[in-house]
Amino acid sequence: MGEMTMLGMPTVKDPRPATRQGRSYFIRTFGCQMNEHDSERIGGLLESDGMTAVGRPEEADVVVLNTCTIRDNADQKLYGYLGALKQIKGERPDMQIMVGGCMAQKDREVIQTRAAWVDVVFGTHNTHRVLDLLDHAEEWGPVTEIWEETASVDDIPSALPSHREAEHSAWVTITIGCNNSCTFCIVPLVRGRELSRRPGDIVREVQQLAAGGVVEVTLLGQNVNSYGRDLEMNGRRPIFADLLRRVGEVEGVSRVRYTSPHPKDFQEDVAVAMAETPAVVEQLHLPLQSGSDRILAAMHRGYNAARFLAKLDLARRAISDLTVSTDIIVGFPGETEEDFEATLNVVAAARFDSAFMFQYSPREGTPAATMDGHVDSAVIQERFGRLIELQNRITFEKNVEMEGGVYEVMIEGPSRKDPEMATARTRGNKLVHLPGSWSPGTVLDAEIVRAAPHHLMGRPI
Ligand code: SAH
Ligand code: SF4
Ligand code: F3S
Repeated sequence: MGEMTMLGMPTVKDPRPATRQGRSYFIRTFGCQMNEHDSERIGGLLESDGMTAVGRPEEADVVVLNTCTIRDNADQKLYGYLGALKQIKGERPDMQIMVGGCMAQKDREVIQTRAAWVDVVFGTHNTHRVLDLLDHAEEWGPVTEIWEETASVDDIPSALPSHREAEHSAWVTITIGCNNSCTFCIVPLVRGRELSRRPGDIVREVQQLAAGGVVEVTLLGQNVNSYGRDLEMNGRRPIFADLLRRVGEVEGVSRVRYTSPHPKDFQEDVAVAMAETPAVVEQLHLPLQSGSDRILAAMHRGYNAARFLAKLDLARRAISDLTVSTDIIVGFPGETEEDFEATLNVVAAARFDSAFMFQYSPREGTPAATMDGHVDSAVIQERFGRLIELQNRITFEKNVEMEGGVYEVMIEGPSRKDPEMATARTRGNKLVHLPGSWSPGTVLDAEIVRAAPHHLMGRPI
């Protein structure tokens, strides 16, 4: 098993000479956009050391698994994957395996106890240390290095190189961590307390991205509406609405997205900033979680169903043609049939364009895990099916409403299924397939000719 080290805070150093020229890496990412974005930076660091990306772990000298622990099945997936890697490493003992991210932050040494063939375990606060940790493992053997926190805004590494999949689109971190205490959620435990990056740093990063050809940015934070609460600039606190406007003004960026706002903190100023800033798209991800006031209180969400619907209404009145998505958990402890029906009612009233729906999964260390009234998994399954059926119907109806309309779409690339077709997104983030070939980032108008349950067929005009 690896030794455990706790090292100091990040330091600015001279660029190190590339020492892994000609070697290859493969990264597998589990979880959310924050993890995807961290993986881009891990890739960037490995490339700064001379390595190149390959498409399969079998071909890689270094395999990185960037983990998630939001639900129990995420844990199971990781150990399944590690089992497969053991085989590969058996044939290629020089291969190095690194496990980072949220589950590594939670499980620490447990990972190398269960999978001794893992060379490096690192957490969410020290992703920028991957090269040093690889060096360390080569010289001294397996290592686990977890940092407890990112202490201040100055410790957020901002100028890391990045390997992006899409040239036209980029993620930009605005906050890390989360100060909320949703009782089901492990994120605050594994990502730490919330820290906001300074507006000037964020805007500068967006300007640099734009100068490099990026036309779409997605601002990332667990609760973007609390952006700036921990900062003071010239005697006042920066706010998210102003940040949106400033990012929206950056020349060359034609689409600004963000995720996620928290319904309790979503206010009119943000809706107005969205409406008044042309580059900010007409799309909102507003996570409902439950439609039952009793369950929302037990979840510690800070709003009830009526207030959620009022926020949604406020956003829809301010922003015409708004597309709304949500997250919903089925089977939170104590959820009765009546509570679940309240969720169905809110879903029917809200008419979300799409929803990410989850079965509740107890996470050790969270308050909900030890609450009474855990719901039987067969019951959760049954309710989950009913929710999906309702939401799928609404999603399809919403798509059908778009038939015949003309929408601005941005090309993502050729369709994976049919190279004669291109895949694009509306400003509302709806997936559109259309015949033809354009470079990613191209913006054009398309008429929606046919709606399918989860995508649209378009025709360029
Ligand atoms: N910060 C984001 C959520 C990040 S986690 C937000 O507040 O919107 C993404 C989603 O995973 C959550 O919105 C929730 O719906 C789901 N989730 C979180 N913990 C879960 C758990 N223990 N079981 C099931 N779903 C969960
Ligand atoms: Fe988790 Fe709630 Fe924070 Fe989202 S806002 S990351 S659900 S604790
Ligand atoms: Fe998973 Fe961590 Fe994101 S637990 S959902 S990868 S913040």
